[in-house]
Amino acid sequence: MSSIPSLVPRDRFAALDRCTYLNQASLGLIPVPTIDAMDTFLRETAQFGNLYLSDDQEAAILDSVRSAGAEVLGTSSGAVGVVGGASEGLGQVTSVLDPEHGTIVLVGSDFPSVTYPWLAAAERRGISLRFIDDRADRDLTQDLVEAIDPTTDVVAFSVVQYATGTRVDARRVAERAHEAGARVVVDATQLAGAGVIDTTGWGADALVTSGYKWLSAHGGVALLALAPDLVHRLPCLVGWKGTHHPFVFDPLTLRLADDARRFELSTMSYATSIGLESGSSASTSTRGVWRRTSSIGSPSWDGARSGR
Ligand SMILES: Cc1ncc(COP(=O)(O)O)c(C=O)c1O
Repeated sequence: MSSIPSLVPRDRFAALDRCTYLNQASLGLIPVPTIDAMDTFLRETAQFGNLYLSDDQEAAILDSVRSAGAEVLGTSSGAVGVVGGASEGLGQVTSVLDPEHGTIVLVGSDFPSVTYPWLAAAERRGISLRFIDDRADRDLTQDLVEAIDPTTDVVAFSVVQYATGTRVDARRVAERAHEAGARVVVDATQLAGAGVIDTTGWGADALVTSGYKWLSAHGGVALLALAPDLVHRLPCLVGWKGTHHPFVFDPLTLRLADDARRFELSTMSYATSIGLESGSSASTSTRGVWRRTSSIGSPSWDGARSGR
């Protein structure tokens, strides 16, 4: 069997000394430059508390993460919030959209964090959920498009399905959804870092990605991108870090940031976020992964389900 040349230098990943790792889509390997970036922050800054980190510097610490994230997600940095996980971002989006009735179109075998917020919303509100099957003999994009009708309020799906690798054409779904007056929520966790994301061009109303898979960051950080008309909405969860001036502590007035920063809550792991920035910058060089694996053909996915 001929070997496939590495897309990235193998010596950046300690685990590749002893194995071929096929689980980046689950718990991704973190490359040495990302470990170094996190380590440098911990050793040279975090270890000294506020000695080397003023309030102003802390307030601005995620600025470059948002910029790098915006590049990966194909949107502007003001549209991007840095959150603690894709699940947190998906929950925030669900409560911001908060439809009172109508139908939510979902994929029946999607990652649970995409469907759970809507299952919970359906317990609170009079919405109904319609689950589309991701079947090997069908075109999931077409089935999502055909499922959208005037009762549809939201279509929420992963652009690459974690269980099968099925790729959804987000732009086509968004076009049809917007015609019908519906919103589109995209989870790009299984694409970010491996393929090109175009939040604005696709017309996604909201898009999230976790950081610890193809973006090769450590767990505990994710990106949330919102369309311009959602960026100013009132989040369901608010915290001190989402305010206009986080260090002007005013418990009597809620003055949120006027961009997607308002969805950021609190003192998150800055080291992990800095790791995501490093992974995001490197991801442009690994985007061929998607092209490479998709050109291998259509395998049978029976029994190929990953742990997550
Ligand atoms: C498509 C998708 N979304 C979300 C997640 C979970 O992300 P997080 O742990 O950041 O909530 C996963 C994890 O496997 C996933 O595959």
